[in-house]
Amino acid sequence: MNVYIKTYGCQMNERDSEAIAAELIREGFRIVKNEYEADILIFNTCSVREQAERKAVGKVGILKRLKRENPDIFIGIIGCMAQRRGNSLLKELPHVDFIIGTEQLTEIPQIIKKEIRKREKITKIETGKELLQGLDLHINTENKVTDFVSVMRGCDMFCAYCIVPYVRGREKSRPIQDIADEVRGLADNGVREVMLLGQNVSAYGLNQSAAERPEESPFADLLYEINKIDGIKRIRFTSPHPYFFNEKLINAIAELPKVCNSVHLPLQSGSDRILKKMNRRYNSEIYLDVVNKLKSRVADITFSTDLIVAFPGETEEDFKATRDIMNQVGFDNAYIFKYSPREGTPAAKQADQVPQKIKEERNQILLEDLKVRTKQHNRTLEGRTFEILTEGPSKRNPERWNGRTTNNKVTVFEPYENISTGDLVNVQIKSSTSMTLFGKVIGR
Ligand code: SAH
Ligand code: SF4
Ligand code: F3S
Repeated sequence: MNVYIKTYGCQMNERDSEAIAAELIREGFRIVKNEYEADILIFNTCSVREQAERKAVGKVGILKRLKRENPDIFIGIIGCMAQRRGNSLLKELPHVDFIIGTEQLTEIPQIIKKEIRKREKITKIETGKELLQGLDLHINTENKVTDFVSVMRGCDMFCAYCIVPYVRGREKSRPIQDIADEVRGLADNGVREVMLLGQNVSAYGLNQSAAERPEESPFADLLYEINKIDGIKRIRFTSPHPYFFNEKLINAIAELPKVCNSVHLPLQSGSDRILKKMNRRYNSEIYLDVVNKLKSRVADITFSTDLIVAFPGETEEDFKATRDIMNQVGFDNAYIFKYSPREGTPAAKQADQVPQKIKEERNQILLEDLKVRTKQHNRTLEGRTFEILTEGPSKRNPERWNGRTTNNKVTVFEPYENISTGDLVNVQIKSSTSMTLFGKVIGR
């Protein structure tokens, strides 16, 4: 039987989909890229913003016709939106056959092998389960340079705007040795860079009940462990929370050669008043302290971030504080989101919602600021030489190759003889845009 899987949302979802696909392949299913070839269609969904849900619902809605023409196919919705909306999705989309939440993902092969044949609607959305074991398989394609590894699941932070703690449940971390084994397996298959994933990855291994900012950092311990693995040349991670960037974690990032010189550090807002209302547990001073410590210890470090514009009650002054701190840090990339009220979260109940027009304006302003700054910054890199991990032919122009610097700059260059993905080469930068560096290989 052929299975088509479409994934919405974050890298955690992408990783889950890959693990599910690998599990299904092991059970004898075939994964197909075209929905019209599929016997079973699975949609791994996201709830983080209204728009993310709307996209998935729209897509599945259109499949009503496909299902009418071919009643033998099965359609399933899994992941965060399945968890949040459960049975109500079946009312809205009656052609859907199964709904499986975030804590039952490992049951999918069993469900589609046995249960769906009964042709009864299936909904599985329990909560509070133990750590999901067994989502550790990968699809080993050749030329895969980078791969994702989930190290923890769930989130206990309860930021006032965010649905993730409700749909992903409580934090649960995998044992360090399981993760190291998984990474060793990837390295044996030619993977050179791992992206360690968790909804709150910097809280890996911590006791969730700790209310104080912890001095321990099991996540730093994990980085030391992964750094030892031969074959792995680069380590990245996402998404961390600034609250857990203590001395231990900063030391690990500064000391470990394989941990990349680029950190994604979600800021959300630069206004202390808004940060407090968001329940982010840091203020601009603490955030800048982390940034400055890292800047002083890691050469050429770059930062990327997540920002929310127009959180309820955000004034012009609050917004200006965000612009200011963005300039101070000098982010090289930022994911800027317009606040989207999520039912059941405290912020959605606030009366002082910001009008749509202002949301759009503030969004545009931050995007423009970012573009101007990254263009300027990239220009200062021209003439310098960076080590690039090669990733493969460029999508836009297959005669060129691309790769990235350790500080996460996409770099395009002419290939050399016998080039292969996963090579580390020195590239001198000749020109740049706000998004890309262009250079020439000057040594291997
Ligand atoms: N755990 C991660 C983020 C997961 S969600 C972290 O703390 O950074 C990814 C991003 O979506 C968040 O960083 C936030 O910027 C954005 N986001 C979350 N809820 C949102 C909402 N209700 N409206 C708009 N953006 C939101
Ligand atoms: Fe959401 Fe906050 Fe948890 Fe990130 S840390 S997933 S923003 S609740
Ligand atoms: Fe979305 Fe779930 Fe990730 S809500 S952002 S897919 S954890």
